[in-house]
Amino acid sequence: MAWNGRHLLSLDDLSQEDMIGLMQRASHFLDAGDRYEPDAPLAGKIIANLFMENSTRTRCSFTVATKRLGGDYVDLLGSTSSASKGETLVDTALNLEAMGVAGIVVRCSEERGPWEIAEQVGVPVVNAGSGTSAHPTQALLDAVTLTRYFGKDTLPEEHIAIVGDIAHSRVARSNVIGLTKLGAKVTLVGPPELLPDDFGCKTSSNFDDVLTEVSACMMLRVQFERDAQVGEDYRDRFGLTEERLANFNGAIMHPGPMNRGLEIDDYVANIESSPHNLILSQVTSGVAARMAILEHLIG
Ligand code: CP
Repeated sequence: MAWNGRHLLSLDDLSQEDMIGLMQRASHFLDAGDRYEPDAPLAGKIIANLFMENSTRTRCSFTVATKRLGGDYVDLLGSTSSASKGETLVDTALNLEAMGVAGIVVRCSEERGPWEIAEQVGVPVVNAGSGTSAHPTQALLDAVTLTRYFGKDTLPEEHIAIVGDIAHSRVARSNVIGLTKLGAKVTLVGPPELLPDDFGCKTSSNFDDVLTEVSACMMLRVQFERDAQVGEDYRDRFGLTEERLANFNGAIMHPGPMNRGLEIDDYVANIESSPHNLILSQVTSGVAARMAILEHLIG
């Protein structure tokens, strides 16, 4: 892999070749599964998980990835950190660096937070979700999941819908970069008020029309905590309902957490509903993708 970046802040940092290199390494970890015998590239190293916003999947999968690579970790959560006393994000990161951590994985509400940290510290920084701007490790794990599902390294024949609260979605922003880098066509679907036109790809507010054209559907959570507002007809117009599933045989994805009964029906979210439900495969891919990233940057 040619990639010699010191940080992973955005998928814009990677070429298609770099992305494929990381995805192949992640696939190797997935294939090895429990049989993977690590040569412990992170042995003796401590990774700081600096999570100023809540997380289930991203934080735990970075922790599992670190441990599987033979490393150790320290968690610093926003709710219990000295940020509550006014300490800045960059000062917090500088203090972690001063303790001797080998890398910083950061989730924050600041749009440019990981970039600001990367300018100040001397250790690798991984963006684990910044405001509404970027979530590159999510997009990488989504690309791993989709390429394994389709059995290809790239996706030039695929048309993928990203559906829902696009306006507040760092997952959508990073996936548009990642999926188009792999050659896929992407259509963003949602109500006009949640559908910005600055993503550089096609948009639509007619989910049923788009559903007839796509081979994968990535449903997004409506982010009420970021003041998203939707009408009472949201589920009927933009939800992946049981009725819609009856006419759709493509891959079903959701980065989680899910609003069951709103953007995705309970029935559709359940893994038994369809052999094309990749929602928990995404979570499994998340550990492998993060192993590939940590190994490359810090191992
Ligand atoms: N997909 C995702 O980022 O989930 P968490 O917020 O639980 O990490």
